Amino acid sequence: MTERHVPRVIALVDQRSAGLPIPTAAFAAETRITADGLLTDQRTRPLRDLRISVTDRCNFRCSYCMPKEVFNKDHLYLPHSALLSFEEITRIAKVFVAHGVQKIRLTGGEPLLRKNIESLIAQLAQLRTPQGHALDLTLTTNGSLLARKAHALKAAGLQRVTVSLDGLDDAVFRSMNDVDFPVADVLAGIEAAREAGLGPIKVNMVVKRGTNENQILPMARHFRGSGMVLRFIEYMDVGASNGWRMDDVLPSSEIVKRIHAELPLVQLDPSNVGETAERWGYANAAGQHDKTLGEIGVISSVTQAFCGDCNRARLSTEGQLYLCLFASQGYDLRSLVRDPVQQADLESVIGHIWRGRNDNYSESRSTQSGDSAPAQRRVEMSYIGG
Ligand code: GTP
Ligand code: 5AD
Ligand code: SF4
Ligand code: SF4
Repeated sequence: MTERHVPRVIALVDQRSAGLPIPTAAFAAETRITADGLLTDQRTRPLRDLRISVTDRCNFRCSYCMPKEVFNKDHLYLPHSALLSFEEITRIAKVFVAHGVQKIRLTGGEPLLRKNIESLIAQLAQLRTPQGHALDLTLTTNGSLLARKAHALKAAGLQRVTVSLDGLDDAVFRSMNDVDFPVADVLAGIEAAREAGLGPIKVNMVVKRGTNENQILPMARHFRGSGMVLRFIEYMDVGASNGWRMDDVLPSSEIVKRIHAELPLVQLDPSNVGETAERWGYANAAGQHDKTLGEIGVISSVTQAFCGDCNRARLSTEGQLYLCLFASQGYDLRSLVRDPVQQADLESVIGHIWRGRNDNYSESRSTQSGDSAPAQRRVEMSYIGG
């Protein structure tokens, strides 16, 4: 089953740059917030994970993310002057780390398309948490440039990578990336990352019912015992252009059931508070987790929302701070970081913004109709970062 045409794509409404007002209280001497690593939001969720989008461009056209019909030759990408520079990103990231961030993920679009990304990685690798620890520094990639870049990324200080791969069958994969990119080249990229020591490697597969569900078992068989963690992601109603429908979602419970029928699984405890994936380990004959066979993860943001512990902030390519993947607007940190006077206020501003945060999109969607909220104003994942 392939998917060459996407009849339901919805034209893009440009939400970029439509910024929310920066909280003015952040500037008053008596209400200034100084970073102490203990910041929490309205739902007492700490700030731990910063995801930075470094480009809004991608060389793939996955229909669930950048459908060809919308991201065509007429689509206007951000001009270079709009992008945060590496120095600006590092200055902002440093403040986030002071506020409690321990993990930074570079995303896109496709982050390896950003010129000289190694130089940004080298700068971020120097940052230390208030306790003096290095960051968990990682990157999400489609793998197309990984064979060429893995060693340089590792040398720059990147710790690990997560590679997106939606199937092993070449025809299915070529049709999902919609640019006819061969699966063998992504597998070569994964191998290069392994050789370079960019592990533990995770492989993310978005599952669309009727499109690549026949790849679930081949993918599980392939990565079982490889030392890599394969994660199945429910197709989400993120962005506004992919024409999402509940019918296209294959619930994670069904994925676990199908794998378990052939390759027995046991549920594992979470390894971190607030993590996206539920973990399942491959079992031995006695029904216990066999670590040599490894584990899989399922990310169920549609059928089992995980907003309760969400500790993730997102910085868009042009420096807007988004508090939720499904937000329609962000806070313009670029204007602050580019202002020689105001940049001293970044710490207090980020503190006030996070303290005011109350987002829980996936949770509130699932307690309502189960169907997607109006999509017109949601920002695209290729701009905000996965
Ligand atoms: P690890 O630290 O490697 O476990 O990464 P992670 O799971 O935090 O991040 P990753 O980017 O690999 O997330 C995998 C997928 O989960 C993303 O591509 C999204 O589809 C989804 N996802 C990640 N964060 C969120 C989130 O905050 N909300 C929702 N609804 N989905 C998310
Ligand atoms: N649903 C779920 N995940 C998505 N991603 C992009 N669009 C979607 C969507 N609609 C995620 C995938 C991909 C990463 C770059 O972004 O995990 O691997
Ligand atoms: Fe590109 Fe990843 Fe989006 Fe596919 S999912 S279009 S590879 S950014
Ligand atoms: Fe966090 Fe928003 Fe995702 Fe919920 S929907 S987990 S609040 S990013």
